[in-house]
Amino acid sequence: MFFFNRVSRYAKHNRRLKRLLVFMLVSTGLLFLSKTGYVLLQFPVRVVQNVPRESTVDIKHDMESVESVPQAHGPSQTAVLVMSATREAALRNHLEQLLKFRPSYPHIPIIISQDGTTESVSRLAASYVNSTANIFFIHHKDRVGVGSPGQKAAKNYFYIAQHYKWALDRVFFEMGYTTVIITEDDLDISEDFFSYFAATKHLLFDDISLWCISAWNDNGAASVTDRSKSDLLYRTDFFPGLGWMLTASVWKELSANWPEAYWDDWLRRPEVRKGRACIRPEVSRTAHNMKVAGKGSSNGLFKTFLSSIHLPDSPVDFSKVNVDSLKKKEYDVSLAAIVKNAEPLTFELLDGTLDATKTYKTIYKNPREFRAIAKKYKLMSDIRSGMARTAYYGIVPFMKDGSRVYAVHGNFDEKLLLNGTSSSYLYTADWDRMSRYLEFEELYCRPGKWTGKCDPADPGMTEWFKKRNRMRLLKSWSDVIVN
Ligand SMILES: *[C@@H]1O[C@H](CO)[C@@H](O)[C@H](O)[C@H]1NC(C)=O
Ligand SMILES: *[C@@H]1O[C@H](CO)[C@@H](O)[C@H](O)[C@H]1NC(C)=O
Repeated sequence: MFFFNRVSRYAKHNRRLKRLLVFMLVSTGLLFLSKTGYVLLQFPVRVVQNVPRESTVDIKHDMESVESVPQAHGPSQTAVLVMSATREAALRNHLEQLLKFRPSYPHIPIIISQDGTTESVSRLAASYVNSTANIFFIHHKDRVGVGSPGQKAAKNYFYIAQHYKWALDRVFFEMGYTTVIITEDDLDISEDFFSYFAATKHLLFDDISLWCISAWNDNGAASVTDRSKSDLLYRTDFFPGLGWMLTASVWKELSANWPEAYWDDWLRRPEVRKGRACIRPEVSRTAHNMKVAGKGSSNGLFKTFLSSIHLPDSPVDFSKVNVDSLKKKEYDVSLAAIVKNAEPLTFELLDGTLDATKTYKTIYKNPREFRAIAKKYKLMSDIRSGMARTAYYGIVPFMKDGSRVYAVHGNFDEKLLLNGTSSSYLYTADWDRMSRYLEFEELYCRPGKWTGKCDPADPGMTEWFKKRNRMRLLKSWSDVIVN
């Protein structure tokens, strides 16, 4: 009572607090009624549907928003968190798919989280809310402004990082889930999406060298995957994201240091990753829906790659797949044997037809060699924190002519894989900037563009950019390492 007296005295001078107090009293009443089963809360849009716990009530929150907050319960303790912001059609498409494929897992709640104030999205999310059906909505509106001009240009990346931290803090710390599957509104999901996560979830608890399960294959195009092996799963050092599961204990560690922007690249940093890997499938269980996605925050940068990734042709019942072979020891022993026995891909074989009964390997000693392999076989060529996409101990598996090929890092050492040394020794940050240089070289150092010394710091090249009024552009390449 003391608390309320004090607040009410203070509230006399503050209309906002007064509203908050009334809200708290009314909502506590409603919570009591709903918990005791007297009323089934079925409020229309713009009415609070369920009540945030007292400790989380924030005066800055707009109390008129539709919010419903579930608590972890039931046998699963897993929730799906859907990240959305401005794309109504995308969210509708994504939710319809989740609902279509969830019936075997009705106890897994779907929590829609919206960032920002696009009303059509809020209205749509609210229209799906149904606590009986385990569908909830949380709303992030309190974006923190971005300061410098550089930040403003990339403000969406800052907002996205803020939204992720806010939403994951809520589902883990406030609602108490132990594992969360994070999805994004522009993703299509496969029919066996839930089966995949249900069957692999225990790995996150049994094998501490794993820190995520992802539904995404960065090199998931039909031309480089074996679509007949849709039950095949891998370990990867390269965080894939795009439909992924993590645990509360990993989140606790990440949340404390969460970055201001570019959270996915941050997860790839050696000091954050700490040698841990993710599970990813051969055939991607999520795909970007280009019709509903718009250009997204990376401005369609990876559009050709993204659109080449297709869901499996038929579902896999992952409860029948031996996922325990993905545990580090067993997996590493079998990977070492495969790579050891693979036939080196000689120069002559590079352009020839491969023998589909054989397994091959090709070594890359530097970013230029990796890029040549990536361009030739249409793999993702970018390098982040020294890692190629899908690399595990520097090994990137892909298909060519029906044969399995492993691109193997020149410094890969079987002994170190087998004695439990972290994969971090293989990845040097310089590779990112060396690889960026190769990108620069492809774009500008060729006939019809600049044919002099290929170096962004070269005076002749600088002059060439200056004449074309592209100095800002040139500056964005200033961190590359000529190689
Ligand atoms: C909420 O979900 C339950 C269970 O799926 C369903 O029976 C009910 O019709 C839904 N309510 C609304 C308003 O859609
Ligand atoms: C693995 O072997 C390497 C080289 O023999 C050695 O330097 C390293 O300490 C070993 N690591 C572990 C974890 O045993």
